Amino acid sequence: MSGPLVVLVGPMGVGKSTVGQRLAERLGVSYRDTDEDVVAEQGRTIAEIFVDDGESAFRAIEARAVARALAGHDGVLALGGGAVLDPRTRALLSGLPVVFLDSDADEAVRRIGRDPGRPLLAGDPHRRWRALAAARRPLYTEVARAVVDTSGRTPEGVVEAVLAAL
Ligand code: S3P
Repeated sequence: MSGPLVVLVGPMGVGKSTVGQRLAERLGVSYRDTDEDVVAEQGRTIAEIFVDDGESAFRAIEARAVARALAGHDGVLALGGGAVLDPRTRALLSGLPVVFLDSDADEAVRRIGRDPGRPLLAGDPHRRWRALAAARRPLYTEVARAVVDTSGRTPEGVVEAVLAAL
């Protein structure tokens, strides 16, 4: 096991899952998503984990899922948007081919609108997305080898940009 070929990080709604799946197809490798790992392991949705146990419990579950995926996956890996909050996760990402996918707020919130269930955006999604993205940009930048802005790009265009950036 040589570790993931590409790790995608970035805020909710930038297209990590869509781009990650297409990138994996293009490279002929498998795709894995730590949000899906958490849901499969816990047998409940992320929204349910937040409601039942709170965000810090979710972060601990997520950090374990990320560590397992980094050690056990050699394809394309997408991390949940808040995974980089954990300093141990940031240390594990050091030296890996990490790409930060960014977007403007309008586009991200529009994408998320089609896929609800994000507890951290409840209330005023635009304002909350902007605040989360602004607070976390330094962390995404710290771990990433490259930044790709997905705004105004098709998933295929983002795949090309990721491949060119690595
Ligand atoms: C979160 C992002 C979500 C999910 C959870 C918390 C965050 O993942 O892990 O709702 O804190 O930004 P996606 O970025 O895959 O939507």
